[in-house]
Amino acid sequence: MDLSGKTAIVTGAAVGLGRAYAQALADVGVNLAVCDLRDEVHDLVNELATPTKAWQGNVADPNHVKTVVDGAKDHFGQIDILINNAGVWGGSFAKDNLDKSIEDYELLIGTNLKGEYLFGRAVIPILIEQRHGGEIVNIATDHMVTCGAPWQVCPSASSCPWGDSPRATGGGDTMDLYDASKWALNGLLYGWAKALAPHGIRVNQFCMGATDSNMLRSFHNFKPSPEEEASWMRAEDNARVLIEMLEEGPQGRNAQNINFCVGRPVKLEPPLEQIYVRPHQVQLSKES
Ligand SMILES: NC(=O)c1ccc[n+]([C@@H]2O[C@H](COP(=O)([O-])OP(=O)(O)OC[C@H]3O[C@@H](n4cnc5c(N)ncnc54)[C@H](O)[C@@H]3O)[C@@H](O)[C@H]2O)c1
Repeated sequence: MDLSGKTAIVTGAAVGLGRAYAQALADVGVNLAVCDLRDEVHDLVNELATPTKAWQGNVADPNHVKTVVDGAKDHFGQIDILINNAGVWGGSFAKDNLDKSIEDYELLIGTNLKGEYLFGRAVIPILIEQRHGGEIVNIATDHMVTCGAPWQVCPSASSCPWGDSPRATGGGDTMDLYDASKWALNGLLYGWAKALAPHGIRVNQFCMGATDSNMLRSFHNFKPSPEEEASWMRAEDNARVLIEMLEEGPQGRNAQNINFCVGRPVKLEPPLEQIYVRPHQVQLSKES
């Protein structure tokens, strides 16, 4: 499918993966509505070689979500693609006290789950009303799909670059809430994919391991060793795969967690079988 002339919303587009997604979409002629907490998001208006509108705000704020979505529709006349990317990480432990836990909850669930939920709810009625299909991509993490999780072993487990295949699911004991916020996205993925297939709208999820970004660099105090840096995946490669996946068009994969594993090539693998949604439940209509 030719993406040029379509309109995409990318959340969390100022730096990192979101910026790479915005750049890659601009490169294939997609109009962009971008938003972020950071004011650098406004730089994209001049930097991207495509019509671009930018808003600064919090994805957890329903008024901000409404402003971005209504603003994008008014300005471009249509919305075709939603890249639900904005996300934060913060350490949280099973033994944390209640006060810290409440703060963590507002931040992590507010951004990673509520933000994606609100943007979906605001965009979906527009996609349905336009009657020409659409694309939603939620950005999750490989913590939820590393081999063995939750019901199948990765097909390439025998050559696992982690060496101790099958690698356990999840991001370790400092990540209970981050992982919960991302696992919760499966509820949106499967629920939306089933509900929206009759409208020709695909819903997929990207689940990456360590990918060079502001967030990943912050884990290393912005001074990663050359070895660490060399081991990371590149945001640009992930964005290239996003474009390839979107170009599959309405008859492409649907309701998929698409995994990117450190140590393996960043490429679009064939869809995996799954038990949560059967193919006939997310078959898009031929007309869409
Ligand atoms: N980089 C990785 O290794 C990695 C791995 C797995 C998943 N992810 C996911 O990819 C997505 C992008 O992460 P990244 O690594 O590029 O992070 P990043 O910190 O480099 O970029 C995230 C962007 O989102 C914005 N943002 C954060 N909270 C926001 C909010 N409440 N409202 C609006 N904007 C907000 C930030 O300002 C920033 O510009 C996130 O959802 C993250 O969880 C990243």
